[in-house]
Amino acid sequence: MNVAVFGAGYVGLVTGAVLADLGHQVMLVEVDQDKIAQIRDGIPPIYEAGLAPLLRRVRDRAALEITDQPLVAVAEAEVVFIAVGTPPLPNGDADLRYVKAAALAIGRGLDGHHRRVIVNKATVPIGSANLVEVWIADGYREVHGEEPPAAWYTVASNPEFLREGSAVADTLYPDRIVLGADVPWAFTVLRELYRPIIEQSFEAPLETPRPRGLTQVPVMETGRVSAEMIKYAANAFLATKISFANEIANICERVGADVGEVMYGIGLDSRIGTRFLQAGVGWGGSCFGKDLSALVFTSREYGYVPEILEATAAVNARQRQRVVSLLQEELKPIHGRRVTIWGLAFKPGTDDLRDAPALTVIEALLRLGVRVTAYDPVAAENCRRQHPDWPLTYAPDPLAAAEGAEAVVLMTEWPQVREVDLERLAAVMRRPVLIDGRNVFDPAAARRAGFAYHSIGR
Ligand SMILES: NC(=O)c1ccc[n+]([C@@H]2O[C@H](COP(=O)([O-])OP(=O)(O)OC[C@H]3O[C@@H](n4cnc5c(N)ncnc54)[C@H](O)[C@@H]3O)[C@@H](O)[C@H]2O)c1
Repeated sequence: MNVAVFGAGYVGLVTGAVLADLGHQVMLVEVDQDKIAQIRDGIPPIYEAGLAPLLRRVRDRAALEITDQPLVAVAEAEVVFIAVGTPPLPNGDADLRYVKAAALAIGRGLDGHHRRVIVNKATVPIGSANLVEVWIADGYREVHGEEPPAAWYTVASNPEFLREGSAVADTLYPDRIVLGADVPWAFTVLRELYRPIIEQSFEAPLETPRPRGLTQVPVMETGRVSAEMIKYAANAFLATKISFANEIANICERVGADVGEVMYGIGLDSRIGTRFLQAGVGWGGSCFGKDLSALVFTSREYGYVPEILEATAAVNARQRQRVVSLLQEELKPIHGRRVTIWGLAFKPGTDDLRDAPALTVIEALLRLGVRVTAYDPVAAENCRRQHPDWPLTYAPDPLAAAEGAEAVVLMTEWPQVREVDLERLAAVMRRPVLIDGRNVFDPAAARRAGFAYHSIGR
């Protein structure tokens, strides 16, 4: 099929490249000229496992192209994805200006040559499919002075569940595909588009092997509003699982229980499950915080106070502050001390710094006059670019970063920091204080190595 994808970010680029690799003809539409140039050269502007060879492959076959001209992309496309960003506004609601710009452009390019399914893949507030429909009609009216015939197009919702760090694998081997539409033909077109994934009939790329036993991906067909809600509810639930683990961790600390043991113990109950119950400095990233606040905003717009969702966010904010409090306690007075931060990205495997807990902690430390050295194997460059005014020192490896430090804080559990030898770490530090924000190290081993050691809930 001919496919257009608006937005060549984490979602759009990965979706576009995967669909091209599965045999579709994909045109990406992007506004960022640097991204366009890099993608044209076959270089992914983001760090994702398996994306570089995939991109090179589809580019060399000319199965994936990129343009800044929406009309060119819309002209041929039978399916048009909207995968632009939906960042949070100060009031918590999602900012739909990029979605609106994309929808208007799609409307301007609409014609009667063939039917089109316009698919919202971005995470958008409940009811946005209606707005996209209105904006597409506005775009068409701008050009033609009349409403577009309803039979020419339909708007569907197809929320994205990929995780950064494993975006390619998640796109090829998703747990489920959720399709929300108002008309049956939209389901038919989208099932056809996704058929190789649904039936797992493609040859798995060498660099992204198929999970053993996967033969079929479940597809859920539902209405647009429910599809939009599924995305928000899924992220809210995942964020709540982590905040729940952190709530229990904080009680564990007070009563002398070990949250790792406790979460494992409850997770063995098949109704609960062991995954996503890791206590630590809390969740971050581009989605959980913004999606949670957008759902809270929608909920309040309709006169309902979502107590659990608000508590999920509050517990998470407190976990970040907890790291700063521990440092203040260990290093008092903290001003002028040297602290090393291991990990900037919100989780291992990505260079994404959006809403990363490490940045909140660094900001607080800089405000307190702490001298901060940071290490991150892939996100350091992004941090330097995004915060050129921060007086940070960057180090090339975990031990070099800890040289002369009075405390090390583990914020992201990269393999490089998991593997650090604690005796060697203690030897290079000026004062052996270790705040293990991800419960990576064995507390007894850390204390044997001479550390004043703190982790979360143990
Ligand atoms: N990143 C994730 O892990 C993830 C997972 C699931 C869902 N989502 C959702 O997917 C959406 C996109 O997220 P992302 O992380 O890919 O964002 P991103 O910021 O990485 O990418 C968005 C891209 O859209 C481009 N863009 C903006 N306006 C445009 C326009 N009018 N035409 C064409 N391109 C335009 C931007 O330049 C940017 O490259 C968001 O709604 C997000 O919530 C993200």
